[in-house]
Amino acid sequence: MTTDQPVKSPNAATCSAALVQGAGRGIGLALLQRLLADESYPHLVATCRAPQRSRALQAIAQAHPRRVSLLTMDVSDELSIARAADQLVGKVGTLSLLINCAGVLHEGSMQPERRLAEIDPAQMQHAFAVNALGPLLVTKHFAQFLDRNARSVVASLSARVGSIGDNRLGGWYAYRGSKAALNMFTRNLAIELRRTCAGVICIALHPGTVDTALSQPFQARVPEAQLFSTERCASQLLAVIERLESADNGRFIAWDGSAIPW
Ligand SMILES: NC(=O)c1ccc[n+]([C@@H]2O[C@H](COP(=O)([O-])OP(=O)(O)OC[C@H]3O[C@@H](n4cnc5c(N)ncnc54)[C@H](OP(=O)(O)O)[C@@H]3O)[C@@H](O)[C@H]2O)c1
Repeated sequence: MTTDQPVKSPNAATCSAALVQGAGRGIGLALLQRLLADESYPHLVATCRAPQRSRALQAIAQAHPRRVSLLTMDVSDELSIARAADQLVGKVGTLSLLINCAGVLHEGSMQPERRLAEIDPAQMQHAFAVNALGPLLVTKHFAQFLDRNARSVVASLSARVGSIGDNRLGGWYAYRGSKAALNMFTRNLAIELRRTCAGVICIALHPGTVDTALSQPFQARVPEAQLFSTERCASQLLAVIERLESADNGRFIAWDGSAIPW
């Protein structure tokens, strides 16, 4: 699928609202833009820490005032997640797609560790709060909106480096560990949510290496063909999501649809 084709979900008849958590920039913003082109989602909900500071989100909301809702949400603060969920009650019927995008690899003085001596407990806790606990808490508060009878997808952006089986280089303790925890949480959710939502599919997604602020300091050795634009990434991830079947529940899947070892 190319990025300029309009998208049409094969499940268009059953799609309700889609929520992109972490839509203010990077991959999340590109996913939101791509979903806007998908006529099958009547309502789109976009969250980030400060929607008023994202020019892109403001422009989208102004251009689509009835279709797009912006919510303030810091995934490291459960109260802000709960408040955002409360604001949705009565506003969207059900969600057929929830995508967790927020993630942190570096931030201010926080850098991925190259060796054991660089482990910093506060930075480790921050990585786990945003990368692992954040998506779990978002799902805790927004699972109430998932359709109990129709197909719905809960997708969390993980990373191949969170694979334990695929770890050949070491380092990046906080990022690797928190994404591995996210993967385990995804598997747990896949089991638990099925008990109440028969059509739910919970997955962890690896987007590939994507040209965003997160990967920017580490792009030098990435071959050009392997560095995806955010537009291409969004197109690829939504194509994977659209093709998901019931049996994919609880899987860790790459941008091209291939399975990644846990
Ligand atoms: N880029 C890559 O090559 C790559 C590779 C593998 C996996 N991933 C994963 O893909 C996801 C998106 O990454 P990206 O490349 O788009 O990164 P990015 O451009 O750096 O964006 C990071 C996103 O995380 C959000 N965020 C950070 N801390 C947050 C918090 N406490 N509460 C709410 N939101 C928070 C940011 O929201 P604000 O706008 O509110 O700051 C922003 O939307 C991440 O989970 C990342 O681990 C990316």
